[in-house]
Amino acid sequence: MKRRSLVIIVVILLALTAGAVAYYKEDTPETTNKPANQTTSKPSTPQQPAFDKKQFSLENPDSLWIIANKQRPLNPKNYAPTLVIPAMRLRSNITTDERQVRQVTADALEKLSTAAEADGITLTLESGYRSYNFQVNLYDHYVSVQGKAVADTQSARPGYSEHQTGLAADLGGVTKPACNVEDCFKDTPEGEWIVANAYKYGFIIRYPEGKQAVTGYIYEPWHLRYVGTDLAQEMRRVNVSTLEEFFGLGPAGDYN
Ligand code: DAL
Ligand code: ZN
Repeated sequence: MKRRSLVIIVVILLALTAGAVAYYKEDTPETTNKPANQTTSKPSTPQQPAFDKKQFSLENPDSLWIIANKQRPLNPKNYAPTLVIPAMRLRSNITTDERQVRQVTADALEKLSTAAEADGITLTLESGYRSYNFQVNLYDHYVSVQGKAVADTQSARPGYSEHQTGLAADLGGVTKPACNVEDCFKDTPEGEWIVANAYKYGFIIRYPEGKQAVTGYIYEPWHLRYVGTDLAQEMRRVNVSTLEEFFGLGPAGDYN
């Protein structure tokens, strides 16, 4: 072979090799100069599955998401759940009715009060379950002391109270016992701890400040309602504080 032909063949071989290397580089992302986490396709945002608002009944009093308010009496009105006593500090003179809650509420209250204790906060159960008959006496007491109009802003009529479901708990503290089940509870260390932490254990403050037209009741910083961690955290995420608004129910400012 002539020397010139040999040179041409070598040049062709070199060109083919260079082409093959370039092709390989283009096709192999880890050999590119781009940062490792950058790809040519559009970055995908992780899709949060839509929250299923129909997971549980809002009507069945056994349901975790039962919504009782002035427009939605419990059905039946004398409904009574199965109850247990939570392992937490109880109000010293608490009644046999009120020391009980439903099992799911007890489990969550135990976690909540243990976590609070770890932060140096002692929570007390002031009132859990209240039977239909208990609520008859309580409501009548408020009516006799305050008159019906005021009583209706603070105490549910029998058959309309969340306390009758075993999913509600009025909590108090030990730093200012005079503020237990009073408006000033919100400014106690216990009240502040509840605002910051209750949702982590599946509770919402059921009657928030400024929502009387929606819930029917004045602000009750002590009244927690167990709804489960999924719902409590979702309500916080979307910044909706009442069950009525979250589930798109009408306002329940008053009885019919
Ligand atoms: N204090 C709440 C509204 C109740 O009586 O159930
Ligand atoms: Zn309450």
